[in-house]
Amino acid sequence: MTSQLDCQYWNNRYRNADTGWDIGYAAPPLTSYFDQLTDKNKRILIPGCGNGYEVAYLLENGFQNITVIDIAPALTEMLSQKFAPHAGKELTIYTGDFFEHSGVYDLIIEQTFFCALNPTLRSCYVEKMHELLSPGGKLVGLLFNRDFQGGPPFGGSREEYEPLFSQKFSKGSMEPCYNSIPPRRDAELFIQMEK
Ligand SMILES: C[S@@+](CC[C@H](N)C(=O)[O-])C[C@H]1O[C@@H](n2cnc3c(N)ncnc32)[C@H](O)[C@@H]1O
Repeated sequence: MTSQLDCQYWNNRYRNADTGWDIGYAAPPLTSYFDQLTDKNKRILIPGCGNGYEVAYLLENGFQNITVIDIAPALTEMLSQKFAPHAGKELTIYTGDFFEHSGVYDLIIEQTFFCALNPTLRSCYVEKMHELLSPGGKLVGLLFNRDFQGGPPFGGSREEYEPLFSQKFSKGSMEPCYNSIPPRRDAELFIQMEK
């Protein structure tokens, strides 16, 4: 396993265009979820946001309060240019470590961020997500339901995740995802955890 999954590691992955996780468009399970939201003022956070396809989708659909945080400055510099008309308005872009972020959000979106972290951080991830959510706020997104050799990504299973998330979240669901992209078919769980 790569020992230091730090800022330099992720920055180099972007600088070297070594971004095998990047699907090139907003993931259908997430866009379907966004499509049924009526409150466009929800405070939405996307940690480890990558190239921001979900951000573009949210902006196109009128969402007014989106925040992203990513540890790789090479990426966030690119995002600042890509989303220049929205930055500082509907969209706030932070460069930094999710675990040091503070704020309050109604909705936090997960996609290949959990699996990018060293598995020793999983309890901290759950605690931090819970801390960042408003009462009634939700963590929604996708977790891999399969193993990988080495990592990142680091996989797992519903059997592992349920006790982990139930440490902080008493309400929620974790179901096989029915509309994953083809390479991830039958290998993802769609999660909704409510604070
Ligand atoms: C596997 S990529 C996924 C990117 C995006 N979610 C996607 O699906 O395309 C993981 C992302 O998390 C970011 N990241 C890793 N550790 C982080 C941390 N501690 N805080 C914030 N971002 C982090 C990386 O820079 C990278 O952009």
